[in-house]
Amino acid sequence: MIPIGKYPTTRLRRNRHDDWNRRLVAEHKLSADDFILPVFVIEGDAKREPVSSMPGVDRVSVDLLVETAGEAAALGIPAIAIFPEVDPALKTPDAREACNSGNLVCRAIKAVKTAHPQIGIVCDAALDPFNSDGHDGIVRDGYVVNDESVEILCRQSVVQAQAGCDVIAPSDMMDGRVGAIRKALDQSGFEHVRIMSYAAKYASAFYGPFRDAIGSKSALKGDKKTYQMDPANTDEAIREVAQDLDEGADMVMVKPGMPYLDIVYRVKETFGVPTIVYQVSGEYASLKGAVQNGWLENDKVVLESLMAFKRAGADGILTYMAIEAAKLLKNS
Ligand code: PBG
Repeated sequence: MIPIGKYPTTRLRRNRHDDWNRRLVAEHKLSADDFILPVFVIEGDAKREPVSSMPGVDRVSVDLLVETAGEAAALGIPAIAIFPEVDPALKTPDAREACNSGNLVCRAIKAVKTAHPQIGIVCDAALDPFNSDGHDGIVRDGYVVNDESVEILCRQSVVQAQAGCDVIAPSDMMDGRVGAIRKALDQSGFEHVRIMSYAAKYASAFYGPFRDAIGSKSALKGDKKTYQMDPANTDEAIREVAQDLDEGADMVMVKPGMPYLDIVYRVKETFGVPTIVYQVSGEYASLKGAVQNGWLENDKVVLESLMAFKRAGADGILTYMAIEAAKLLKNS
């Protein structure tokens, strides 16, 4: 054991005595540079709809999304992640709208890139917003088929890159998709487009409010346990991350966040690569619901919940609280 001193010559409370001293010895720092803001986009003009299970989060039309992106950029937030709520009439079993270069997400990418070229844009590679089954891949005889889904994800990724997306984030958990998407992007001249892989993505009940927000909950048949990970597993997360890195992932993600801090820690310790964590919709809803009831203090839990990710080893955090946290950090 490292000699760290004994009481009473050593009193660990001394370094906690003053604010300046606490700041001086703080081991981790949270900053706006750590955040990616997930945003929900809808059709229309000057349209804003609250997401009932996520107090403070709205789905907005492209024009308002551009404003939000501008606000995020001004606060120093490096990137946004765009999620579309697709018209149910456009959802089909083959999710063909995912590969339509004029779809809502591509129009949103173009509008944000034109207005705010300095902010990074992240988009999922996954079919759930476009699929009438609500699944991330194509369903055949009740099973989400792997290789056929990967082919469509490759086309979706290229279409999004053509629209100006900087980072493709495969969130589908199909096997082999990172390598296939890397190849497809490179063959189309997008070798600079990054892949942030949802590498260790668990079949979690904490995604409920997100599925409300993009309207995939009512569409979803069954659950996602045949492709997303079992919450009981840790070693498997390491294998998933290793495989995605082998296939060319630039950044890897652990999701959800707070209930999976052990996975964040182990991934960062094992691989030492850019590690991103997603503070998902259900985590947001739990904290904000308690705040609304007066059971938790908003500003303190916002910052403490995000600091926990830094302590566990995360380099970046997808969080619906990015704008409010960036403002709090600016004023602190
Ligand atoms: C879709 C996707 C999901 C989330 C991000 N991308 C939901 C799911 O897999 O069902 C969840 C985000 C959140 O809950 O905040 N593949």
